[in-house]
Amino acid sequence: MQNISHDELQSHNKEWWEENPMTYDWTRTLNVAPFTPEFYAAIDERFFRSSTSLGHPNYPSDPPFSKQIDYASLRGKRVLEIGCGAGAMAASFAKHGAVISAIDITQTAIDFTRKRFEILNLQGDVRRMDAEQLEFPDEHFDLVWSWGVIHHSANMEAIIAQIHRVLKPGGKAQIMIYHRHSLRNWILAGLYQGLLRGKFLTTPYDEILRQVTDGYIARHVTVKQAHDYFSAFESVRTELTDLSDLSFIPLNVQIEKYLVGKVIPTSLKRSVDDWLMKNFGWFLFIEATK
Ligand SMILES: C[S@@+](CC[C@H](N)C(=O)[O-])C[C@H]1O[C@@H](n2cnc3c(N)ncnc32)[C@H](O)[C@@H]1O
Repeated sequence: MQNISHDELQSHNKEWWEENPMTYDWTRTLNVAPFTPEFYAAIDERFFRSSTSLGHPNYPSDPPFSKQIDYASLRGKRVLEIGCGAGAMAASFAKHGAVISAIDITQTAIDFTRKRFEILNLQGDVRRMDAEQLEFPDEHFDLVWSWGVIHHSANMEAIIAQIHRVLKPGGKAQIMIYHRHSLRNWILAGLYQGLLRGKFLTTPYDEILRQVTDGYIARHVTVKQAHDYFSAFESVRTELTDLSDLSFIPLNVQIEKYLVGKVIPTSLKRSVDDWLMKNFGWFLFIEATK
């Protein structure tokens, strides 16, 4: 990876997502034709249902990420989504009255999002664009939202500088990136791949992390680094979420299936999960105000 130029890296990044568009279909079980209403409903079910603990415990009666997003205050306001994937969040912002611009580096994501808007009869400016070179004026947006995107780009710092540029003074960035010191990384990359499968003998930890994560590039960031990256902003708040990826651990499955509710009180399991998530979650959510 070290000897690859920025442009080469970025074209690998783009190719990877063109070949693996974000449909939440890791197990290839989404048996619905693309571009149909059923296709979008199935994606939303997977994306939003799996992330209820992160930001919308009462989904679907509350809209996605209602804990993080104050939809009412965004009516008539300019919102930019960076890396819109299949357009689930862009559509949610549009449905709630925001003036949405949605960009993605891949044509597939743009086609998916445009079709979703057409089916739902929503208005939005949906364009293929590299977030490292945003084609929007300075101080244009009230909110920039990006979920699981900027750590995949060849130059993440360039995107953060662009986000700062296009935000109005007082505007907010809400960005999710991957957290380095997470239980998921320690168990999957460190313990399983590194120690048990012996990869530490030949492969640096960062490369192991990349291999067990989506995208051609996948940066994993500490909370301290996140604050440093966003230091140009007036204020920065971070929050850790997501333990869902631990379902691959057999012990965890056993606990879920046989012990919780019988031997281990559900409330205890929930508080332990909550504590683990807040301290060692895989998703690092950043809220930065310009
Ligand atoms: C993990 S997916 C997330 C998609 C969507 N945010 C979601 O949560 O479903 C990452 C997305 O980021 C896009 N992406 C990666 N690098 C980008 C860049 N430099 N500019 C714009 N989009 C980018 C990819 O094409 C892909 O659609």
